[in-house]
Amino acid sequence: MSYSLQVAGRSRVVVGSAVAELPQLLPAGRIEVLTDRNVLKLHPELFVGCQPLVIEPGEENKRLQTVEAVCRELIRRGADRSTFLLGVGGGIVTDMTGFVASIYMRGIPFGYVSTTLLGNVDASVGGKNGVDLDGYKNMLGVFAQPRFVVCDTLLFSTLPAREIRAGLAEAVKTGIIGDEGLFALIERTGFEGLCRSSKAMDEVVVRSVRLKAAIVSRDEREQGERRKLNLGHTFAHAIEKCSREMNHGEAVAVGLVLAARLARRIGVLPAADEERIVGLLTALGFAIEAPVPMSELFEAMTKDKKSECEAIHFVLPTAIGACEIRTIPFVELAQWIGKL
Ligand code: GLY
Repeated sequence: MSYSLQVAGRSRVVVGSAVAELPQLLPAGRIEVLTDRNVLKLHPELFVGCQPLVIEPGEENKRLQTVEAVCRELIRRGADRSTFLLGVGGGIVTDMTGFVASIYMRGIPFGYVSTTLLGNVDASVGGKNGVDLDGYKNMLGVFAQPRFVVCDTLLFSTLPAREIRAGLAEAVKTGIIGDEGLFALIERTGFEGLCRSSKAMDEVVVRSVRLKAAIVSRDEREQGERRKLNLGHTFAHAIEKCSREMNHGEAVAVGLVLAARLARRIGVLPAADEERIVGLLTALGFAIEAPVPMSELFEAMTKDKKSECEAIHFVLPTAIGACEIRTIPFVELAQWIGKL
């Protein structure tokens, strides 16, 4: 069973037993495959009959040097503008694939097989791609939609529990932004339950993609509503910049807690909803306190690329299933942060 969703009218996301559909999704003609060393080792069945380009795993490799190396290899292999680039992996591989494909010979078509929960529910869907620069996440990149994203939850069987948990942070984020039912499903099923049930996991992915697809289709280039998808991320990116202790999903979990705390202090989120957010993230096994002092986070946040002039676009939850975007001046933010 699989589900098909459209993003921005031109990117198809297939969820469920989706790898089986790959041959129908791929165009005729030359295809180059990009993956990382871990995915190649864990899923050799995905690479039968092809010689993928292989990058090293890890956020530290999501940078321009890797893009150059991949492009050089594409040139060496004689890839031209009709070549299709297929990225097979988690968010780092799909971000790199989208970026390489967008700039190689001014743009070649591309698609993804997304192998992680985090990739399925967020990173691989919506057309953002790019690389980090000097510790700033996704500082260089473009908006470009993949032709398709294959999200097959059976591929998660090789993921460590920590990676699945990290992906759930993004799904919880999506629930808080606009799908109370998704939030309740995760609450009801719990971490172990979701790991055991591919049906429940498929539902988490479908609901997350559905909400993201709707938002991205209305605001593809993040001029307004798409900013909501950054809920918790202003704090999370600051945490990732200041400390190597947490992976992205773990930092997002702390970011969601801090955003909820801030929203309750400002008076837009009822205390009961804040408790529900903290309760779910704690039950899923996340640490919910920042690993560095708030003053350090504030310093990093004021340098976030989403900040404009002397203020920052902050996403605040107003209920489970609703949020608003506020432009908060840094001086005001400093005062609030001092009280969190
Ligand atoms: N990860 C947030 C977005 O795609 O807009």
